[in-house]
Amino acid sequence: MNLKNYLLTARWTFAFIIGTVWSVFSCQAINPPFVIKHLGDGQSIVQIENQKKFLLLPVEEASPEAKLYMIADNDVVRNMNVRLAINKVDYFVPVDLSGFDNKSLSFNFQLIPDTAICWNEMKLSDTFDTANREDFRPLYHFTPQYGWMNDPNGMVYKDGVYHLFYQYNPYGSMWGNMHWGHATSTDLVSWEHQPVAIAPDALGTIFSGSCVVDKDNTAGFGAGAIIAFYTSASDRQVQSMAYSLDNGKTFKKYARNPILTSTQRDFRDPKVFWHDATDKWIMVLAVGQEMQFYSSVNLKDWTYESSFGEGQGAHGGVWECPDLIELPIEGTELKKWVLICNINPGGPFGGSATQYFVGTFDGKNFVNESPKMTKWMDWGKDHYATVTWSNAPEGRHIALAWMSNWQYANDVPTTQYRSGNSVPRDLSLYTSDGETYLKSSPSRELLTLRGKGEKKRSFKVDRTYNMDKLLADNTGTYEIEMTIKNRNAEVIGFQLFNSKGEEVDIYYNLVEKKFAMDRAKSGIVSFSPDFPVVTFAPIEDNYEMKLRIFVDKSSIEIFGDDGRLAMTNLIFPSEPYNRISFYAKGGSYTVSSFQVYKLK
Ligand code: FRU
Repeated sequence: MNLKNYLLTARWTFAFIIGTVWSVFSCQAINPPFVIKHLGDGQSIVQIENQKKFLLLPVEEASPEAKLYMIADNDVVRNMNVRLAINKVDYFVPVDLSGFDNKSLSFNFQLIPDTAICWNEMKLSDTFDTANREDFRPLYHFTPQYGWMNDPNGMVYKDGVYHLFYQYNPYGSMWGNMHWGHATSTDLVSWEHQPVAIAPDALGTIFSGSCVVDKDNTAGFGAGAIIAFYTSASDRQVQSMAYSLDNGKTFKKYARNPILTSTQRDFRDPKVFWHDATDKWIMVLAVGQEMQFYSSVNLKDWTYESSFGEGQGAHGGVWECPDLIELPIEGTELKKWVLICNINPGGPFGGSATQYFVGTFDGKNFVNESPKMTKWMDWGKDHYATVTWSNAPEGRHIALAWMSNWQYANDVPTTQYRSGNSVPRDLSLYTSDGETYLKSSPSRELLTLRGKGEKKRSFKVDRTYNMDKLLADNTGTYEIEMTIKNRNAEVIGFQLFNSKGEEVDIYYNLVEKKFAMDRAKSGIVSFSPDFPVVTFAPIEDNYEMKLRIFVDKSSIEIFGDDGRLAMTNLIFPSEPYNRISFYAKGGSYTVSSFQVYKLK
């Protein structure tokens, strides 16, 4: 071969190699542990080589949801919707690959352009870092380690352990892919994260529901089984069950799911409890804008009993997440039934909220004793999906709410996780002017959070009384306790504020007979026009008012008069409110026993 021919051949060989490489790479991205094949029209296959514990997927929250199918030896074993990064990476979410060690794993991706950055950013790893990255993450309220959370689900107490399950998206910090996440506690204030309890299946994703302890083995899964009832949600909503024979560690789905179906589109959130008087299980379901009651002797076969709701209470949206409990009336030997009814939208300040009805329940019908009234359980904007623990000790009825609002829950300024729960509250009833109301008292376990207490102070306020830096060494997690005695003031108020001029204004307007919290200048509020509102509660004509105020990194929960008044609101200050200032309008008042506790 002469030099000319040699150069020509070399040139063609070089061109051939470049061409081949180019053509391969044009439909196949370079990311070594993966073989990525783009198939056109947004479809791609990613084959995984050198499998590790997690596939870490890059998420961009502004991206639309892409559909992913996880395939093991040609069978689809899981599918999920993920907002895969197209232009930038907000964070990573892990797909757990363990349990498939001997299989060939691949993923089928749909609806993602070949040019998206996710192809270069996805990784395999044996670890996923869950260390907290959020300044707004509460210290003593439950939050998921990462990902999205909404309603508390399946709350049940057994053998000294409080179980909390919850609506969970492990593949992003926005709503989707509903699973039941799981956490346990022995004291209601410190929580241990547990593996996901119930994952989606061919019947759908896992919507809200409840658990019972089947002490007498009525369902036949075993005495003491924890049985979970949840809504399988796909195009239609149907009720399903799963049981745990290891105290809630793992659940097995009942093979004959679903156990209850309907032609109604909104048919969900089963709350099951044992009704002593009729010796039956009762299931309450949220169906459109009413609650339906079913009964059963074996937890598997359910008989329709009645519906409740038409013309009663608020109807600005669908009814969701019911609960039905019998509660004692303070100062009497009497009990009444309370139907908790979460509603979205249609809450008193827009979006979601918890209403309730007081009345009788005979195992068939719930009768509301005050059909003309609408009663709200909490007068803040961030108190939803409230339900109580099943089988709680000492006959307690302990409630927990999701501390957000559907109007902006997906937009709040956190990314590693979204949303926490309220503090636990013990429910009871009290009577005022012949009407029976729900009282939500902070559960006694919250006292164990109290660290150092500031000395008790008493003072009179007739104009502005600035206790600058009183809360200065606080990290934004504290409880304030005080008793206010009115001396002809028209407005009794105080502001919690920080050095950045961010504040919440909390006041009694005694002329308008309301208690209010204004978070318009509380910090970050611009993520939703529905966020910076004033929430207010009607108040009784009191001369003396007791307040307990729980402040955490991104929430304020106010309890007046041991829970007759409850107000729960989120806040996102750029630094903790470490100052407080009292003011009076048109008269004066005294504050006695003012005390601040750091909460650990
Ligand atoms: C209430 C709710 C429930 C449903 C769940 C879905 O917040 O809409 O009715 O089961 O959330 O995540």
